[in-house]
Amino acid sequence: MKDQLIEKFRATYGRAPEILAYAPGRIEFIGNHTDYNGGTVLGAAIDRGVAVALAGRADGQRRFASDEREEIVTLRADQMAKLSGAQSWVNYPLGVLAALPVFGARAPAGFDYFAVSNLPTGAGLSSSAAIELASGLVFLEAAGERLARETLVKIGKHAENNFVGVPCGILDQGVSGFGQKNHLVFIDCRGPRFATVPLPAGAHFWIFNTHTKHALVDGLYATRHRECMAAAQALGVSLLVETDAAALEAGRVKLAPEVYRRAKHIVDEIARVEATSTALAQGDLAAVGGLLTASHRSSQHLFENSTAELDFLVDTLVATPHVFGARLTGGGFGGAVMAMTDADFGDAQAQTVAAAYAKKFGAAPDILHTQTGDGARLLT
Ligand code: GLA
Repeated sequence: MKDQLIEKFRATYGRAPEILAYAPGRIEFIGNHTDYNGGTVLGAAIDRGVAVALAGRADGQRRFASDEREEIVTLRADQMAKLSGAQSWVNYPLGVLAALPVFGARAPAGFDYFAVSNLPTGAGLSSSAAIELASGLVFLEAAGERLARETLVKIGKHAENNFVGVPCGILDQGVSGFGQKNHLVFIDCRGPRFATVPLPAGAHFWIFNTHTKHALVDGLYATRHRECMAAAQALGVSLLVETDAAALEAGRVKLAPEVYRRAKHIVDEIARVEATSTALAQGDLAAVGGLLTASHRSSQHLFENSTAELDFLVDTLVATPHVFGARLTGGGFGGAVMAMTDADFGDAQAQTVAAAYAKKFGAAPDILHTQTGDGARLLT
């Protein structure tokens, strides 16, 4: 990826880059929509991501290019308005540039910038967090700033919340920032506090990307966010993490039926994250798998952020030998299903699942057998 990035940078700008950085995509292991409710979540950085190269310019111009678009977007350093259409991908690095001063860091003035990715977009694997963190690293380095990893993560989230405009929690940026090969990242989102947890040997990840995306996905995410906040308010707490199953039942009469279902998903899901941590420490992958599938069922019936396509994949996967469990990964309303399997689940099984899906929905999902990977870093 690094060689390809350097070559593309040279081909685009006619000179060598000065600074390179990489940040991975992530899978949401378990802890669905718990992050902005102040709960806990487990994720894993994967072995695919976004790499960014940068070289300074003395004329104050900022030029952005990527391997996914032909156009070079040229902006003056004081042009910080949100972009639209084919240029909207630039909102990720631009949002990071806008966030830097909020965290007391200088932003570099002029530069040439190039991004390459080997992460499928729209699959729920957080290509947006990956580009934010890789961009943050090159910008900070170019400006001569040294910030803690946690601040880099917060800068990425700030860009997403305030510039891009998605009210996401800290899961995606936190996992991309703190990922470690053969580990999961545990986040207590209230601190936030980040820790890595060893992944028991023998766990394999398969991603089935449906390429479906609900047309209203951003709006639906924001709606779920609002419903959770409404539930917290009605229950007299500031975030749903402060309630529990008994208090939720006691307060149920105060909640509209769908708001109750959203809150129940969050409360149960936070308990599942804890149970998953215990099962992981015991190396009990069968128990972990059961919790992953239970999380999906809760998404399906309570949070209602699943789709017929995702449900079909989960149903088919959990009926397949060597699958510990499966669930939607990320925000939902389309995107991908993640399955945790043993080493004997292979391409043949994955193709059988894909063929059953294609028979029902007309097109096969993309299959990705991923490993865990390390978190965001400068490339030397
Ligand atoms: C998206 C958001 C995350 C998180 C998940 C759902 O990935 O970006 O912050 O809320 O959805 O758990």
